[in-house]
Amino acid sequence: MILLDGKALSKQIKQEIKTEVDALRKSGGNIPHLAAVIVGDNPASESYVKNKVKSSDEVGFESTVIKKDANISEEELLEIVDSLNKNSDVDGFIVQLPLPRHIDPDKIVLAIDPQKDVDGFHPFNFGSMAQGLDAYLPATPYGILLMLERYNIETEGKEVVVLGRSNIVGSPISILLSRKGNPGNATVTITHSRTKDLDSVLKKADIIIAAIGRDRFVKSHQVKEGVVIIDVGINRISDPSRKKGSRLVGDCDFDDLQNTASHMTPVPGGVGPMTVTALLLNTLKAAKNK
Ligand code: GUN
Repeated sequence: MILLDGKALSKQIKQEIKTEVDALRKSGGNIPHLAAVIVGDNPASESYVKNKVKSSDEVGFESTVIKKDANISEEELLEIVDSLNKNSDVDGFIVQLPLPRHIDPDKIVLAIDPQKDVDGFHPFNFGSMAQGLDAYLPATPYGILLMLERYNIETEGKEVVVLGRSNIVGSPISILLSRKGNPGNATVTITHSRTKDLDSVLKKADIIIAAIGRDRFVKSHQVKEGVVIIDVGINRISDPSRKKGSRLVGDCDFDDLQNTASHMTPVPGGVGPMTVTALLLNTLKAAKNK
């Protein structure tokens, strides 16, 4: 089995980004500036934002974090979004999800200027992506495309099964892999909680993309020999043998699948670092477009 090492690949792509940023600095160009808004103290969100800022620093971007208490009002958050939209020093920004329950995430995403929406969550970018027009691609699907491309995994004519239909992963990756292009030209099936006979759908898959948030859900007996597994899940399970008392696992049972899959992403160290790298590429694009 070939390990799809997102950590190593993202290190390589970050080096490529850094080279571009160094050249921009030398020529007096616009240095990319990424801002992140985080609300509340969800430990997973804090860790994701920390990684995004660390990676921005590594490639020579400027970065700003705006951290707000969980009790911030929707109006106040909308004002922050508006000020970031208007701030010409900031090339792109994200509002880390999930948000507290009293804030409507759709309203917040709609308020982001599509030109600065480096998460690719705004319907303008989603619609442009779906029509094959220039757009900021959502970071996780973009990271998956980069991984398939750099590992030379052919998608044309392949059966791809996507588990999960979220707006940020399942739905956009299905569109991207079925559209014309490379990676693309695949026959894509989206599955979800109402899918009947998931096993027979999974068994046909040449490539499985799992994004359902259920720990070690996909097992070897459900898949074809030689399948490519892209595991987007990040689930914390208890593990008394670890100092922390827990560890992270994906939506696919890595240990069980390693003799059946031809290629597989680990969790952690697979799709996660690629998502961050894709966000950096979107921010670089935003800075160049300015
Ligand atoms: N929450 C989980 N994934 C993401 C992401 O890619 N961007 C933002 N803003 N929030 C998230």
